[in-house]
Amino acid sequence: MSLESIQDFIRQHLGLNAGTYGNDLWRELLAKRISTVGDRSPEDYLARLHNDETELHTLTSLITINETYFYRESQHLKLLTERLCPERLAHRAADEPVRLLSVGCSTGEEPYSILMALRERYGELADRLFEIQARDVDRAALEHARAGVYGRFSFRALSPQLQERYFSAVDTNHFQIDERLRRQVCFQPLNLLAADYPPALAGQDVIFFRNVSIYFDAPTRRRVLERLKTLLVPGGYLIVGISETLANDFGILALRECDGVFLFINESPVMGAPPVARTLAGTERTDRARDTGRTPPARPRESRPGVPASGDSRRPPDTSSHPHTIRRRSDPERSCIEYALIPATRSQPPAQDAPDGPAADAIHGEALALAQTERHQAALERLEPLCVAPQPRPRDLVLKAHLLLEMNRTPNAMALAHRVLEIDHWNLEALLLLGRSAQRQGRTTEAIGFLRRAIYHRPESWPAHFQLAEVYHATGQAQLAQREYRVVLRQLEREAGPPDPMAALIGAPDLALGDLRQLCQIRLTRLEASD
Ligand SMILES: C[S@@+](CC[C@H](N)C(=O)[O-])C[C@H]1O[C@@H](n2cnc3c(N)ncnc32)[C@H](O)[C@@H]1O
Repeated sequence: MSLESIQDFIRQHLGLNAGTYGNDLWRELLAKRISTVGDRSPEDYLARLHNDETELHTLTSLITINETYFYRESQHLKLLTERLCPERLAHRAADEPVRLLSVGCSTGEEPYSILMALRERYGELADRLFEIQARDVDRAALEHARAGVYGRFSFRALSPQLQERYFSAVDTNHFQIDERLRRQVCFQPLNLLAADYPPALAGQDVIFFRNVSIYFDAPTRRRVLERLKTLLVPGGYLIVGISETLANDFGILALRECDGVFLFINESPVMGAPPVARTLAGTERTDRARDTGRTPPARPRESRPGVPASGDSRRPPDTSSHPHTIRRRSDPERSCIEYALIPATRSQPPAQDAPDGPAADAIHGEALALAQTERHQAALERLEPLCVAPQPRPRDLVLKAHLLLEMNRTPNAMALAHRVLEIDHWNLEALLLLGRSAQRQGRTTEAIGFLRRAIYHRPESWPAHFQLAEVYHATGQAQLAQREYRVVLRQLEREAGPPDPMAALIGAPDLALGDLRQLCQIRLTRLEASD
């Protein structure tokens, strides 16, 4: 018997493939392990794996890849707090928490990030409004998660403000998560390939299943998705890592796009409930809510992500009223107006020393790099000297507008984009940003207007055509959507190199070009089929 039989066992037991890791690496690891435990042959070791649970857990910990960090792919957190949670709260009874599950939670950075994002949005109410479960097959990783102590590398995408708010230093290089957050997340072992999942896990509103399926082959991904679907409530969501989206589009769950982010929804019918989730993509939700008189879930006025409720940045929202009154509040217009009234939180540096030429380019490059790694506040601060220059450059203002949009300061972002258009009437990035913002606010006609204007001047811009296709698709204008998807596909044929770094920032989906082509093709085929 050779090491291959152990690799087969691992594939069957955990779904992990030697090919994903590199055969040599696994061989080396297994040979070392066999010698450490003192077995004479791979056969003996395989027999041990069948009989000795402790060894099975040890090997599992050795071969799983636990790479993770706080606020990884933070667009998912934003989508969760801005769109999914308000919607799911509206579906839950007053005394029932919205249930969130992180599977493949590794050392805990993902579920704790979810909790931090919820606390930023809902303050201490989050503890009562949400239940967070976290599962992983690797028990050593779960121990680490329960301890909640992290090295510096885990914080590479977390803002210093959030780190300061939710962690305390253990020593110069290690930080412990706040005890209240630590108690709030329940970590338990789960093998996604297990024959049965614990019944108590059923009824999830949102499942985070990110950066786990990359290690599975297609049949395993399909099998796991079938199982995870059984844990979702009808209308519940499943979120995979950005690079995994299309590889999980088996038709088991329906693929949706919302604010440029892709996710899956469980479309299983539910008795007597309106298909609210269908309207998630784009702007249709608000339009339809308006048409039917149904009110979309409202943002609680006391708390806004990233912006303190009062002068004290640590002060949570007012919790004196009954927590569930928050769910009943319905004032969809108000949140936008409120945002417009809130001034920027930082004072601006003086303008006289504004850099120009190569120095300005270098600063812009640094801010762009920070933006790409989702360090929005840091990027904003880096960019600020350029934006307060007597004659700021449109590209700096556009980047700032993008950052504001990412930080949910939509009206500020739109105001800045309009300012760019005053300087440069046809600025493509500003028009796309306005299209995206209007779409996000449910103002479909306005969004289409901005996007058409962008296309009129820059017909070769596939992000503009894609965004327009998505608006048409979301609003049921099938013929127009088809036309735009075809244009995108034609233009992407000519697109060779890596995408323009700004493309992702102005609303183009965060996908590799090949995946984007495939997505457009899938959309087009489905639209043609339903003609
Ligand atoms: C790369 S980490 C992803 C962590 C986190 N979800 C993220 O996106 O940052 C992958 C995790 O999946 C877990 N995993 C791998 N196979 C699994 C299985 N069969 N069942 C449960 N978890 C598994 C690993 O132990 C590892 O912690």
